[in-house]
Amino acid sequence: MNTLKELEEHIGDCHRCPLGDTRTTLVFGVGRHDADVMFIGEAPGRNEDLKGEPFVGAAGRLLDELLASIGLHRSDVYIANILKCRPPGNRDPQPVEIETCTPFLREQVRLIDPKVIVTLGNFATRFVLKTSAGITGLRGSIHSAGRFTVLPIFHPAAALYDITKQDVLFADFALLGEFLAAHDRGQQEPVQGELFGA
Ligand code: URA
Repeated sequence: MNTLKELEEHIGDCHRCPLGDTRTTLVFGVGRHDADVMFIGEAPGRNEDLKGEPFVGAAGRLLDELLASIGLHRSDVYIANILKCRPPGNRDPQPVEIETCTPFLREQVRLIDPKVIVTLGNFATRFVLKTSAGITGLRGSIHSAGRFTVLPIFHPAAALYDITKQDVLFADFALLGEFLAAHDRGQQEPVQGELFGA
């Protein structure tokens, strides 16, 4: 596959796993095809399932605010999920669903080739970093997965229930902004900042 459009056509009206029978709309992903930043969430919820776009509900509104805090709009980045179809009742993704669906996500990452992948919450972080560690211990510092730079952060939905996580999310976005600015200046590693560890 050479383009996201070809990949989307290849996925088609997917019924490779049982979620194909229960979803309304397959949520492929949205944003710039050459984005520097790629966000990976968990799975579409009810609003996303109806609209066919990731993060269009309350968590999405917070994500938009977080993006705006570093001068970005969702059209500047790319947003996708571990699963492209909504699990019934928003239950957790099942291993077989992740296994079936994530080859397409990998292909999206390969085609977009972002400078940084931001994983939202436990499912995306565990999948991308191949770890069983929790998001609380991993967030806010830079990791790598293969040739990709990865910044794990809390899932915005978690911050809707626990308001204290909102400040942490804004702080982690500030670090993302620093990383992008340093990258634009051609610095491989900024001189300081929690983002790059000690
Ligand atoms: N939560 C996610 O993880 N992804 C969405 O697209 C919406 C809510």
